[in-house]
Amino acid sequence: AAEKSVTKDKIKRLLKAQNAVIVAHYYVDPDIQDLALETGGCVADSLEMAKFGREHPAQTLIVAGVRFMGETSKILSPQKKVLMPDLDATCSLDLGCPSEQFNQFCDAHPDRTVVVYANTSAAVKARADWMVTSSCALAIVYELKKQNKKILWAPDRHLGKYIQEQTGADMILWDGDCIVHNEFKAEELQLLKERYPNAQVLVHPESPASVVSIADVVGSTAAMLKAVVEGTASEYIVATDQGILHRMRQLAPNKTLIEAPTAGQSATCKSCANCPWMAMNGLANLLNCLENGAGAISVEESTRSKAQACIERMLDFTK
Ligand code: 13P
Ligand code: SF4
Repeated sequence: AAEKSVTKDKIKRLLKAQNAVIVAHYYVDPDIQDLALETGGCVADSLEMAKFGREHPAQTLIVAGVRFMGETSKILSPQKKVLMPDLDATCSLDLGCPSEQFNQFCDAHPDRTVVVYANTSAAVKARADWMVTSSCALAIVYELKKQNKKILWAPDRHLGKYIQEQTGADMILWDGDCIVHNEFKAEELQLLKERYPNAQVLVHPESPASVVSIADVVGSTAAMLKAVVEGTASEYIVATDQGILHRMRQLAPNKTLIEAPTAGQSATCKSCANCPWMAMNGLANLLNCLENGAGAISVEESTRSKAQACIERMLDFTK
């Protein structure tokens, strides 16, 4: 504990000295979440992270999350230094959608508006018309449907299916998934709901349709947090990465939070819903960013400017 507090103090000093700020996702280590908030940074969902990084005056952004989040910050703020504690922190959705295959997918459907989830590489975004996150995807697809646009969607098939069902839009879906949310199981969740009949069920839309169909609230990490803080129920079953429980407990200390069951759950794994890539962010490698400038994100300029257009379109829409 003493060592941890020395590291935190060093980080605080260096953030100030270097005009840097931490932009953290709800799934990272609680120590990083607290540090981000104590030092004027943010803990947020992927849409809010993108907005915060772009609007904050700091010249260096330390993005504690996964690769696509750091890339999005760099794309939006090319003049800023964007550092990440571990550049190998990726995402199964990003890995499952390589740009060459994605380009072929787009080439095969030239008449469609290309909508991609934030969880993709800069190269994939560069080919898309729109980037969306889980908190604005539904509203953007509703709007595109109103304009009679047919959609090509990548990469999360569960989120894509959910949006297709909600909006009735004509969508062709890429076949990707999140290794964390894909593991939630409807049968076990139903049993848990029977044990806690008054609990509200909160589900991230990257989960399978059978799980989403049990939900009282389907939404991004920020929407789930809001539902707990503002909701009138006293118990909540949470189907997303367990990292978010930290912020939920801080903002709603009197509510009971119950983790939704995953397939891998066993006596040795109390909390299986834990993204291995988000878990690569720690205090030691975050300090390394500040001490040594480690983990710098760079995006090649022609890719960056094309990707920027598709992200800005979303930011304008959500203003
Ligand atoms: P949010 O936009 O809801 O934070 O989702 C990002 C993510 O990676 C969820 O797994
Ligand atoms: Fe990607 Fe899933 Fe991890 Fe989010 S939780 S970063 S979607 S693998």
